[in-house]
Amino acid sequence: MNLKDIIKSRYSVRSFTKKNVDIEIIKEILQISKCAPSGGNIQPWKVYVVTGNAKEKLIERALSNYDNGVQEKIEYEIYPNPLDEEYRKRRSECAKDMYAALSIEQDDIESRLTQIRENFKFFGAPVGMIITIDKAFAVNGWGHVGMFIQNICLSAIDNDMGTCLQESWSIYPETVKDVLNIPDNEVVWCGIALGYPNLEHPINNYRTSRESIDKFVTFIK
Ligand SMILES: Cc1cc2nc3c(=O)[nH]c(=O)nc-3n(C[C@H](O)[C@H](O)[C@H](O)COP(=O)(O)O)c2cc1C
Repeated sequence: MNLKDIIKSRYSVRSFTKKNVDIEIIKEILQISKCAPSGGNIQPWKVYVVTGNAKEKLIERALSNYDNGVQEKIEYEIYPNPLDEEYRKRRSECAKDMYAALSIEQDDIESRLTQIRENFKFFGAPVGMIITIDKAFAVNGWGHVGMFIQNICLSAIDNDMGTCLQESWSIYPETVKDVLNIPDNEVVWCGIALGYPNLEHPINNYRTSRESIDKFVTFIK
């Protein structure tokens, strides 16, 4: 696939097959992804690759939090509060389409919560990643990490795999740090579920839309 096709074919994969990912492929993806640019070449990204018992333990603790309504002190706000109408509309449309793909009705809160719970199983992916950044960095440094993360998502496709980024993990920073031994000077920004897409699952068969470029680009002569 050429770059254009890889970018266009990326989507958030939320169901994976049980097929394991060779550690050498994970390393190769990270080797390529680290070519991302960063201001002053500071390379502020940190990645914790979670498989095997560590993944099971993290999932067990996170699900226990979720099922028992545990709330941890969050390290950053996922969305601005209040969220402007323009953005809110896109977010609810995205959720509506996802639940429609799963045949979950709008008022079926229980089924929606069960689907959200899948986040804390890395959607069944054989590999989980936790992306952190030193607390000292503000928005500029986070932008650099974003470029690195996008490289992971695209390199995964180049290896016939898929990903789902998961800010959901940021709601349990204490648990994530405790299980993975992550120092407290790092912010748990997001997780990544990585593996081979389960193409039989309906959640992988819907696609999100994008605004036309006129909506967000200003050409100035
Ligand atoms: C930083 C970041 C965090 C995200 N966190 C989650 C998440 O916690 N759970 C989830 O299901 N999707 C998550 N997503 C996926 C977005 O919902 C998705 O990218 C968006 O709806 C566009 O759909 P697409 O990725 O299929 O093109 C996240 C995306 C980004 C960029």
